Amino acid sequence: MDVCTTVHALRARLDEPRRARQTLGFVPTMGALHEGHLSLVRAARAECDVVAASIFVNPLQFGPGEDFAAYPRDLENDLARYEAAGVDVAFTPDVATFTPADRLTTVHVAGLTERLEGAARPGHFDGVTTIVAKLFTAVQPERAYFGAKDYQQLVVIRRMVADLDMPVAVVACPTVREPDGIALSSRNAYLTPEQREQARTLSRALFAARDRWDGDADSARALLRRIMGAAPGVRLDYAEVCDPQTLEPLEGVVGGPARALVAAHVGGTRLIDNLRLDPCGAGTQ
Ligand code: PAF
Repeated sequence: MDVCTTVHALRARLDEPRRARQTLGFVPTMGALHEGHLSLVRAARAECDVVAASIFVNPLQFGPGEDFAAYPRDLENDLARYEAAGVDVAFTPDVATFTPADRLTTVHVAGLTERLEGAARPGHFDGVTTIVAKLFTAVQPERAYFGAKDYQQLVVIRRMVADLDMPVAVVACPTVREPDGIALSSRNAYLTPEQREQARTLSRALFAARDRWDGDADSARALLRRIMGAAPGVRLDYAEVCDPQTLEPLEGVVGGPARALVAAHVGGTRLIDNLRLDPCGAGTQ
């Protein structure tokens, strides 16, 4: 595995496979890798000739008072995990060069970014789309892999790619869960054993809503809020049932697909999770 720290070095490394018309898959991450990230690498490995993956804790997507400084970082270990999972090229730019203080450009997706995570974390998605656009420009992948765990991020990035005609296929991979249902997240590392138990409430509520899903968005939303509201140690931020594409909250009985999305604080840690509402129980995507 080659490690490139500058856009220049990355382009030089990817020049030859590009000229040889090899398919390039890309997995962007902020490091602190877990099985969820590695499942994206494996999906890219299975579908592409060359796999590039980045590690960049992106300061632009953290708000004031959020955990940018505390975000777990272990570059050496992450690079070893990338290599073991079959990454060919790791891109690890430094903050000062990749996000210089004098930059003037922001990529903003309107509407979709105002709800849910966007309402709770103003500016977060501008930080995500700006950096993902930069990463796509640097890597120029044919395919880019994102986890359904960050469902709104996935929807926003798909929209950016469509609106800007970016020549990249966005591939969504299912959320990876522990056997007890909790979604893998780098932020789970912040949880004490007791908080980890409390954090199960998010997936417990989502699975309950999915198991009882009869097409009624209002009762599914009420169930999510009841379960999460009653759980000790869990401070509900939002629990919504939305259109999977527009992320508009759904009301009453709906004929089509729906997505349940939740966010809550457990101790000092903010966690998110989501699930497709589907009576057959298929697909945690
Ligand atoms: O999902 C993440 O880890 C980040 O939001 C991403 C896509 C790497 C952009 O910084």
